[in-house]
Amino acid sequence: MNFKEAYQKLEECGQLHVLDYYDELTLQEQEALLEQIDTVDFKVLKYCKNNTTNQKGRIAPLTAMQLAQINAKREYYTAIGLEEIKKGKVAAVLLAGGMGTRLGSDNPKGMFDIGITRPVYIFQRIMENLLEVVEAAGAWVHLFVMTSDKNHDVTIRFFEEKKYFGYKKEFVTFFKQEMVPASDYEGKVYMEEKGKISTSPNGNGGWFTSMRKWGLVDFVKREGIEWLNVFAVDNVLQRIADPCFVGAVIANKCVSGAKVVKKKTPDERVGTLCLEDGKPSIVEYYELTEEMKEARDEHGEPAYNFGVILNYLFREKDLEAIEESELPLHVVEKKIPYIDKEGNAVLPDQPNGYKYETLVLDMIHQVDNCLSYEVERNKEFAPIKNATGVDSVDTARELCKENGIVL
Ligand code: UTP
Repeated sequence: MNFKEAYQKLEECGQLHVLDYYDELTLQEQEALLEQIDTVDFKVLKYCKNNTTNQKGRIAPLTAMQLAQINAKREYYTAIGLEEIKKGKVAAVLLAGGMGTRLGSDNPKGMFDIGITRPVYIFQRIMENLLEVVEAAGAWVHLFVMTSDKNHDVTIRFFEEKKYFGYKKEFVTFFKQEMVPASDYEGKVYMEEKGKISTSPNGNGGWFTSMRKWGLVDFVKREGIEWLNVFAVDNVLQRIADPCFVGAVIANKCVSGAKVVKKKTPDERVGTLCLEDGKPSIVEYYELTEEMKEARDEHGEPAYNFGVILNYLFREKDLEAIEESELPLHVVEKKIPYIDKEGNAVLPDQPNGYKYETLVLDMIHQVDNCLSYEVERNKEFAPIKNATGVDSVDTARELCKENGIVL
């Protein structure tokens, strides 16, 4: 893209300030900026005052398959799941493209070391858990790792350095998610440098589209993979490609499944799996109404009692029908580093604008049904979101110890 074309594109979307420092840039920097202007999709910015996520349909509870029910059929479900894994029909997708801003580490979250007497990296915990399934099934499980522009190379280097934590390298494939511009509250993009627009990963909802762009959906089909278990990087007790979960989804003729835990309190900060206009849907904790918090089921238990832990099983063929553009766009307030009018780099300590994201949890509403599958909270849910306090390194360490994991 030449300067004139770039000028026109920016003028049309009200972003001409991107060229404020153009004359100060070296030739190389100018070329890089023109290339970035060419590739950046500015369309999302129009949502800065119009978050598309707020209109929900009619919400009703979705009954979860609870632990007692699962335990009664554990062997049966596990056998079905193991069989599918043995046949190579199940793969896993690790969502590791996030910025982990709350944890406050510059490295990818998975490189965070939660060890005390020895190094125990988050990635290591994930690979160890997956290895247990590989051993039980006697077959390797393909793992696709989503990264972003911000952490792709360093993530791959880390896996190489750690020899894939004992996993078979040929079964681990990295792919990058797309980036979108970050803006101020008026929808004007921030500049990260004089010659670089500030961009951030486009949320975890774009994973399947990004896999497609990387040719991985073709690969999945060639390999005969039918189920994709997508999960978050930050739960150090996450069970991946869990045979019992896979078997339960298949045996109950569901097209997707979501692992859920019993909420600690009705307003705990986890999404609630329910029905929206008859289809599965996840209501965020801040969208729960008082009425929903107080609603009871026929046993007198809270009707919206189960929270999702970002561990979903999707049938691959259903994912192909979902267009990323159909997913609602979440406009999220965040701290965005930028350069000010004088060209000084600013690292804000308070949110100063918006990032634009689609979320994997919204994909659940695009499929016909979803098995809400309860897991034992203290055995499978140890999220690390914050440096201290709730869902932090400290709480995750306690839970690891409780599960006999030497730190
Ligand atoms: P979070 O919602 O916790 O976001 O991600 P985050 O970016 O990691 O952390 P904060 O909010 O900045 O502190 C949940 C999961 O989704 C992945 C994360 O890596 C994590 O596994 N994710 C999030 C992506 O893969 N891409 C994204 O753009 C955002």
